Amino acid sequence: MTIRKLSRGVALVGAGMSKFGAFPGQSSRDLFVEAFQEMLASVEKGFDPKEIEALFIGNFSSDLFENQGHTAPIMADWVGLTPRPATRIEDACASGGAALRQGVLAIASGLYDIVLVGGIEKMTDLPIERVTDTLATAADALYEVPAGFTFPGLYAAMATAYMAEYGAAPDVFLKVGYKNHENGALNPKAQFGQRIADIMEARKKSAAKKGLPIPEWADEMAFLNDERANPTIAWPLRLYDCSPVSDGAAAVLLVSEDLARRFTDTPLYVIGSGQASDGAIHDRPTLTSLPSAKKAAEMAYQMAGVKPADIDVVEVHDCFTIAEIIATEDLGFFEPGQGWRAVAEGKTARGGERPINTSGGLKSKGHPVGASGVGQVIEIWKQLRGEAGERQLPGNPRLGLTHNVGGTGQTCVVHIFERR
Ligand code: COA
Repeated sequence: MTIRKLSRGVALVGAGMSKFGAFPGQSSRDLFVEAFQEMLASVEKGFDPKEIEALFIGNFSSDLFENQGHTAPIMADWVGLTPRPATRIEDACASGGAALRQGVLAIASGLYDIVLVGGIEKMTDLPIERVTDTLATAADALYEVPAGFTFPGLYAAMATAYMAEYGAAPDVFLKVGYKNHENGALNPKAQFGQRIADIMEARKKSAAKKGLPIPEWADEMAFLNDERANPTIAWPLRLYDCSPVSDGAAAVLLVSEDLARRFTDTPLYVIGSGQASDGAIHDRPTLTSLPSAKKAAEMAYQMAGVKPADIDVVEVHDCFTIAEIIATEDLGFFEPGQGWRAVAEGKTARGGERPINTSGGLKSKGHPVGASGVGQVIEIWKQLRGEAGERQLPGNPRLGLTHNVGGTGQTCVVHIFERR
C-alpha cells in the first residue's frame, strides 16, 4: 500500500462537548451551541470565532430523528458563522469520524487554515421502535434488513461467531460493560455516569420506596447475569451490552500546524488518518473482524509512522460490547481471538496494561450516533493534555487513537493524535 502523508500538518487546538443523555425539549441545535461554547472556552489563548473558515458536521439522520434535513447550515447559523460553507457528512455512526477526516483534508489541502468539525444527533424524541427502524437504515436494505436483523441482532451474530471461533462466553461481554460503567462514572458528561454497583444500589432503594421485595445480588456479575435486571436484547447480548439511545453534540477546532501555538501551548497534532469501506455483513470472509477497521488502522499507523504498541490512549467504537473486543484485535492491540482474554484478565481496565475507553465508551458515555466520533476525540484531547480528572491515565500519555465504525463496519475511520 502506498504510504500517504498529509501535505501540511494539522493541529487540534480546541475541543468541547455537550453532556450526552436524553434531553427532552432540547434540539440538536441547542446541544451543538453547548458543545461550541465549551470548545471556545477550551482555546486558552482565545480567538475570534469569525476566523473559522468552514464547518464539517457529522450527522446520521436529523431527517428521520428530528424531521429536519440540511442541518449543517443551521448549525453554522446558530453559532453565528454564516456565510461560511457548512457541509453535513453522513457515514452512519461513523459520521463524526468522517467529518473529522474531511476537516483534516480541507486544511492539509491548503484550502483553509481554521476549520470547525462538529458531530450532532438528537435521537430520543422518537419512540424506541422508530429509533430502531431509523438506525436500521444504516444497515444494508437489500441484504441485512430483509433477513430480519436489527442492529443489536447484527452485532449478536458477530458475538455468536466470536464465541464459536474463540471459545469466549457471554460473561466476558458483560465484563466490557462493567468496565465501561466504571470509567463512565468518572466522566461528568456521561449519560450513564454510574458504576454497576451504584445502579444495583439505586434499584434496591427504588424497590424499597415502592414497597416491593428488595432484590439481592451477590455481586455485580450476578446483577449482570440476572435476566430481570439485565434482560436479553438479542442473544447473547443483554441490555448492558448495548450502547443507549442518546442526544448529544461535540465540536473540535482544527488549524494548520504553523498556526497551532497562536491558540494554545498544548496543541495535539493529527499524525494519522485512515478510512475504509466494506459491503454488507453476509459478504465478508469473517464475522469476527471488520476488514474496514483493519484497513483504516493500517492507513493511519503508516501515515503516523507508529505501531499499536506506541499508542497510549484509545477510544474504540463499542456500540455493543462485542464490538469493543473485535476492535482491540483489529487495531492490533491483541492477536485475533485474544481480545476476550485481555478483558477477562483486566488488561483493558483503566489500571490495566492497555486501557480501552477511559471515557466510558459509547456504552456508558452514550451514543448520539453522528456525534460519537467527535466525542471520542474529546477524551483523547483531555487525556493527552492531562485534563481527564479522576480518570486521567498516569505516565504522561503522548499518543492517542480513535476508532469510529459506521453500520456493521461498512465504514471505519481511525485517527492518531500526538502531543509534542
Ligand atoms: N444500557 C443500560 N441501561 C439502559 C440502556 C442501555 N443501553 N438503555 C436503556 N437503559 C435503561 C434505562 O435507563 C431505563 O432504566 P430505568 O428503568 O431504571 O429508568 C431502562 O433501561 C429502560 O429504558 P428504555 O429507554 O425503556 O429502554 P429501551 O428498551 O427503549 O431501549 C435498547 C433499550 C437496548 C433497545 C436501546 O438502548 C437500544 O436500541 N440500544 C442500541 C442502540 C443502537 O443500536 N445504536 C446504534 C449502534 S450501531
